[in-house]
Amino acid sequence: MATRKKVLVTGAKGTLGTDLVARIKTTRKYDLVAVDIEEMDITRLSDVKNTFLQHRPDVVIHCAAYTNVDRAENERELAMAINSEGTKHVAFFCRELGAEMIYISTDYVFDGLKQTPYLETDRTHPINVYGASKLAGEEHVAVLLEKYKICRTSWLCGIHGRNFIYSILQAVAEGRPLSVVNDQIGRPTFTFDLADALLWLLEKPEYGIFHITNSGFCSWYEFAQKIIQLAGIKGVAVRPITSEQFRSLAQRPPYSVLENRRLEQLRFRPLPRWEESLREFLARKAALEQSGVPPVVARRGTSK
Ligand SMILES: NC(=O)c1ccc[n+]([C@@H]2O[C@H](COP(=O)([O-])OP(=O)(O)OC[C@H]3O[C@@H](n4cnc5c(N)ncnc54)[C@H](OP(=O)(O)O)[C@@H]3O)[C@@H](O)[C@H]2O)c1
Repeated sequence: MATRKKVLVTGAKGTLGTDLVARIKTTRKYDLVAVDIEEMDITRLSDVKNTFLQHRPDVVIHCAAYTNVDRAENERELAMAINSEGTKHVAFFCRELGAEMIYISTDYVFDGLKQTPYLETDRTHPINVYGASKLAGEEHVAVLLEKYKICRTSWLCGIHGRNFIYSILQAVAEGRPLSVVNDQIGRPTFTFDLADALLWLLEKPEYGIFHITNSGFCSWYEFAQKIIQLAGIKGVAVRPITSEQFRSLAQRPPYSVLENRRLEQLRFRPLPRWEESLREFLARKAALEQSGVPPVVARRGTSK
């Protein structure tokens, strides 16, 4: 009988990690080790070493990250310590123990000046600290390992974490006026879809860089409008504004649609259109609320 693969998930209490862990459990195919900062602070080499020696994983899905894009501008050292050095620690012990590594990365490794979807082979050029720190993580993975999968995704939304959908719904609930940027175009991606794709990819002997997003594209303004429409909210107007008017700490790419070229080549079915998955997200949220479970997990705070 074939032995079961042991899969270690880092950042297991984060937005993606929570859904990924739940998805892995439903397959009943893997031995799962789920860790977050309490068990393994990836900035501490000794933590990473101890966890790897204790569990000896076959595959590591590295979701742990510093993800607050704006705050990273003022916390460069911390963002680098987690996303670059922390990832290096994980990659190093993957190499030591012969584990495959799946590293979750981001559309923000690109500058957004391309006007057509970014391919896995396109030149990277981050324009904010978060993007630079994630790219530095990618570079460590590629230097240290042969069997790695760098999976870039974008505009992540998951039930169990802060995200744009909750921000919009909360603003509506509080009666705050809504002004949303209309000059940044990307692909909202839902953690339940991404988790499916990651598990599919985990079984494939294919390595390198992969883009994994839902289908379609929109601006944040269009995304906000659709959230309000599908949530059945009437009489709330959204005002389109420019990034210049919004004035966030971090600069963001104006266009960061990721083409899932390698998944297409491997004949993976395209992930659903983002509008379809938004509908599914709202249905899951409603079901959770009815069951009395609060959907948002409050975390320490390197997250959004
Ligand atoms: N969110 C997006 O829009 C987006 C877009 C593209 C790519 N990604 C990438 O997708 C992955 C998952 O993102 P996500 O939104 O699920 O992130 P998240 O919700 O912020 O989860 C990240 C997890 O990592 C933990 N963590 C932070 N510092 C750590 C450390 N030193 N050691 C161990 N764990 C640590 C966080 O704990 P605390 O909460 O306590 O800090 C959190 O539980 C990340 O690699 C991210 O860069 C995200």
